[in-house]
This record gives sequence, structure tokens and C-alpha cells, in this order.
Amino acid sequence: MNDQKDGKGEEEEMPVDPALKATRYHGVIKERLYVLEQIAVKINDEKKWFVEIRNLEQAFAKELPEHFRNEEELLFPILESRGIPEHKALVARLRTEHAGLLAQMEGITQLLCEHMFPLQPEAAARINEELHRFSQALCQHAETEDEQLFTAVQSLNAGAGR
Ligand SMILES: [Fe+2]
Ligand SMILES: [Fe+2]
Repeated sequence: MNDQKDGKGEEEEMPVDPALKATRYHGVIKERLYVLEQIAVKINDEKKWFVEIRNLEQAFAKELPEHFRNEEELLFPILESRGIPEHKALVARLRTEHAGLLAQMEGITQLLCEHMFPLQPEAAARINEELHRFSQALCQHAETEDEQLFTAVQSLNAGAGR
């Protein structure tokens, strides 16, 4: 099969870093956080909401570490290797946020494991608050990456293609 086209070989294909696939994942994260926020306040209304929140938390606990690892191993080094101070500062901030978010998530997992439905009011209030804090922090983190991290990587890739 000959699918070579005139002039096509002269232009270098824009490299797409595999870690950029993570951008699509932020849509999933944001959707899941929205659902989490909607049902977190109902945690003690019906058992199905308590179970739903546990399921959502388990989904985050399963997928978030790998998501962060992909960014830390594939994406962040691209920016760090260029030695641009603003990029280094951004990556340092994001790495710190990853550690904080994982710790927050582990705390919530533990809280949910320690309690059964129906919850005592204090426990329900505490879980609610922790879920809200986690949701806000993760949403903010994803927005920072969407707005700053991926833009920076894409501009480096575009510069490299010139
Ligand atoms: Fe991240
Ligand atoms: Fe991310």
C-alpha cells in the first residue's frame, strides 16, 4: 500500500505526548466531582447515597494515583527539562498538590471505612466537609493543569516543530 502524499514527508508530524491523554481524563474527573458534590449532602438520607459515595471514592482511589503517576513520569519532566523557572515552579506546585490530594483521599477512604449507614450527625457532617474540601481541591488542580500545564507543554511541542 502506498499512501505517501507529496510534501507530506517534509513536514514533521506534531508529536503528541502520551500523557496528554490525561487531558481527556480531566473531563471524567470533573463530571465525577460534580456528582460527588451533588450527593455528598445526602449521605445520610438513604443508604443508596452512602453506597454511591463509597463507590465514587473507590473509583478515585483506584484511578487517581495512576493519573498522577502518568503526569509525574511523562508530562512534568518535559517542562522540568527545559529549565524555565515558571515551568519549574508550576510543576513543583502540582507535585505538592498531588501529594496533598492523595493524603486527603486516603483520609476520606478511611473515614468511610470506619462508618456504616446510618451515620451519627457529627460523622455525616465531617465526611461531608472532607468530601467538599477534596472536591474543591481536585477541581482546582485539574483546572490549573488544563489552563497552564497542557498549554505550556503544547507550546513547547509547537516550538520544537518549527
Ligand atoms: Fe495532576
Ligand atoms: Fe491531571
